[in-house]
Amino acid sequence: MKKRAFDRYPANQNVRLYFENNISTGTLLNISKSGMFVNTRTCLPLKTKLEIHLPIGEDILKVPVKVARLSRKDDIYDGIGTELLESSAKYLEFVDDQTRIVKTTEKKIKTFVCSVCDHITFDTAPITCPFCSGSIDNFHDNSGALNIPEKIDTLTEFEKKHFPLIILSREYGPAQDFKHLDVHVKVGAIQHKMDVEDHISFIDFYFNDMHLPKKCIARINLNCNILNPEATLRFRDVNPGILTIISNCNTHGSWLSETTI
Ligand SMILES: [Fe+2]
Repeated sequence: MKKRAFDRYPANQNVRLYFENNISTGTLLNISKSGMFVNTRTCLPLKTKLEIHLPIGEDILKVPVKVARLSRKDDIYDGIGTELLESSAKYLEFVDDQTRIVKTTEKKIKTFVCSVCDHITFDTAPITCPFCSGSIDNFHDNSGALNIPEKIDTLTEFEKKHFPLIILSREYGPAQDFKHLDVHVKVGAIQHKMDVEDHISFIDFYFNDMHLPKKCIARINLNCNILNPEATLRFRDVNPGILTIISNCNTHGSWLSETTI
């Protein structure tokens, strides 16, 4: 078997594909110094030249590539392997950053993501996606691609716009009896914008006690332009455990925050 010239690293990033006068979307699943693999339902013939627009922070890196490989699953077209037509210092820097991210977080947390609705599960992929009802075949391993804060007090401005902020408020009755717990989530400490190009598309709430795996208990879908990236859930009953929030930016991927309740 021919060995790849460069190592590939997993990624999970929404990208846009520009070819001739068309625009399509896809998810960047892995990247190397010589090319990228993009999950997309847009069928492009081999050798098609296109530009992949890759969000890096708040900038867009435009990478000229050509289609070198077509991917199919169960006879359905599901992605393209591409070769770079031109490299740049910024692209190589981005690949190096992915390398570092993978090395620091790859084995810490195992996650799978649904390629249809972006729902993330922990440890294993479900038989059926709880949100889009798609099959387990739509899930791919994206361990290392989920953004997790290393140190909350050293976040950059860009990170502060994406990591969800969790605010808890408990209410008690006159006899100090527990009434409810409100979990308010804001994205983020600096509010994320909500325009078509760059917005928070949903907030997923997960809960697990100390013995059970994390399970998603609610999703709030957000409509860009008319809503702030905020959501509140009211719990009538609470067991001690860990509340995990994932916010999904349509351009900059998934971001996780956690708290104990
Ligand atoms: Fe964003």
